[in-house]
Amino acid sequence: MTDTTPGGLENLLSEDRRFPPSSEFAAQANAHKDTYSWANADRPAFWAEQARDLLDWSTPFEEVLDWSGAPVARWFADGQLNAAYNAVDRHVEEGNGDRVALHFEGEAGDTRTITYADLQREVSKAANALGALGVETGDRVAIYLPLIPEAVFTMLACARIGAPHSVVFGGFSAEALYSRIVDAEAKLVVTADGGYRRGAASALKPAVDEALTKGEHTVTHVLVVKRTGGDVEWTDERDVWWSDVVDGASDQHTPVPLDAEHPLFILYTSGTTGKPKGIFHTTGGYLTQAAYTHKAVFDLKVETDVYWCTADIGWITGHTYVVYGPLINGATQVIYEGTPDTPHRGRWWEIIEKYKVSILYTAPTAIRTCMKWGEEIPSKFDLSSLRVLGSVGEPINPEAWIWYRRVIGGDKAPIVDTWWQTETGAIMISPLPGVTETKPGSAQVPLPGIAATVVDDDANPVPDGAGGYLVITEPWPSMLRGIWGDQERYADTYWSRFKDLYFAGDGAKKDDDGDIWLLGRVDDVMNVSGHRLSTTEIESALVSHPWVAEAAVVGAADETTGQAVVAFVILRGDAGGGDQAPDEVQTTLRNHVAKEIGPIAKPRQILVVAELPKTRSGKIMRRLLRDVAENRQVGDATTLADSSVMDLIAAGLSAPG
Ligand code: PRX
Repeated sequence: MTDTTPGGLENLLSEDRRFPPSSEFAAQANAHKDTYSWANADRPAFWAEQARDLLDWSTPFEEVLDWSGAPVARWFADGQLNAAYNAVDRHVEEGNGDRVALHFEGEAGDTRTITYADLQREVSKAANALGALGVETGDRVAIYLPLIPEAVFTMLACARIGAPHSVVFGGFSAEALYSRIVDAEAKLVVTADGGYRRGAASALKPAVDEALTKGEHTVTHVLVVKRTGGDVEWTDERDVWWSDVVDGASDQHTPVPLDAEHPLFILYTSGTTGKPKGIFHTTGGYLTQAAYTHKAVFDLKVETDVYWCTADIGWITGHTYVVYGPLINGATQVIYEGTPDTPHRGRWWEIIEKYKVSILYTAPTAIRTCMKWGEEIPSKFDLSSLRVLGSVGEPINPEAWIWYRRVIGGDKAPIVDTWWQTETGAIMISPLPGVTETKPGSAQVPLPGIAATVVDDDANPVPDGAGGYLVITEPWPSMLRGIWGDQERYADTYWSRFKDLYFAGDGAKKDDDGDIWLLGRVDDVMNVSGHRLSTTEIESALVSHPWVAEAAVVGAADETTGQAVVAFVILRGDAGGGDQAPDEVQTTLRNHVAKEIGPIAKPRQILVVAELPKTRSGKIMRRLLRDVAENRQVGDATTLADSSVMDLIAAGLSAPG
């Protein structure tokens, strides 16, 4: 285990601070301690009750869980419902049309307030426009938008007609967008001229234009929202402005009743191979767990809370905890387009003060960045409205956890450290506020209805106090239903490491109370600022450059971003790279990775080496490279085919120039 655990987390296990819930919080909490025992005694029955309580079904279900086609689950399969109806229309029908659904804050300070009644009209218009553009139930729609209200309207419009959406994060390149469009066989792309990032307009449409020239595809139209007013190239028969087709469309639209197992969306994520995986989720089970977890883990009180999740809709957190969970529950939330330091480093705290945000959900990397900027910045703002704080995306180090609690949460707001994945669809392991005595740095307990444990190499559960691999032992409603177009890869990736157990890819340890501490990935997936990146994907981007003969990428511990991408490359003797100054090689290759995948995948450092450490069977020993990247003494190198390689690398790196 220690070989594969990212550095810097060892101190987690000696952490002994404890934070019991206050009696005032406990008295009003949505969650109850007793829920665990009855939910875990009959998990399907527990989830069926949540599905009936939290969702409206056009055809009620009788069947709860069908696991006969394992590892593909079917939940509530004979029922029918519509996600957009549940997220929007029913709140209006119940008399809550005037409640604010979205407080939108643009980076430049422009704002829009969208009530549930507004949302119903906007989503209906968008659904009618999609229909007019030929999108039918079952067709796939790619969404490449900034975090603006139209992104939410489009996702819900797709859900309304049963066209699975595939949101591609705006920070991905044309190349990455193209491969996702092709894999999902998308019929339509919805984009914008651009969005605002770091005080300037940043174009999006050119990446769509470029993507669609890369090769064959099935896209018939590109629907373009005007956000920045920047110049755009236009392909007449293909491109349509949102204002031309959506604004004038009818605001009446009947949601299509869909089977509970109808695909709701595809979301691509990095795996251990170069090709991103299209994780797909269906409707009834996903929405049930999204809604339940959003209500229980954040202690949501719809009448009084103002919720804010800082994730972009391009990630699973944005799907489940910006769009589906909060809207299904009828919550009021803030969405913010920009970066935390534009135009100043207090921007987030200003937004919290302005809207009196009471629940904040963000990533450890953001907390660590704010720590670096200094607590005098948040302390200038009134953050007293905050009552629950969430963390997601990567392990949170105890120091950041304590800072979050003290500086942002006024030493009273409970912190929920939520562990889950694109694949799990919704939160799986987390404290429950008002119930759990929290421990800084631990996600602690599987939620009611979820069965997770830590096992050793032979799939035996480890005793308390020991480490191993995190697995999920029973099916759960929001589990992925597979990898789009590749069910064999689904079984291989998640179900072959341990028989009948879902292998999450994370290392974990149980403490003496049996609580779970996540220790980071044990596979070739890195976690940079809470974003998942694959070492292999970046390696293939690097070797696609003519200068590069071979590349190895590792995730090295980084104080702010959790992990950082560090690449080791061997240059081709005859391709010209070797004649360049090291800075030039570094800049050129970093930009090349940005072009192939996106700026988020740019290596922090690229080191030119003469050899890479390989085992006799030719496998690169990333563990040794990680030691180099983290400036540590290089560990056991006895299994290397050529044991002098590490000395060569070390000598090369310390040599001048
Ligand atoms: O390694 C775990 C880490 O993020 C991975 C999932 O990444 P992704 O699918 O992009 O979803 C991120 C948002 C849900 C996991 O395999 N991870 C996520 N949450 C935590 C975490 N690691 C430790 N603690 C967490 N709370």
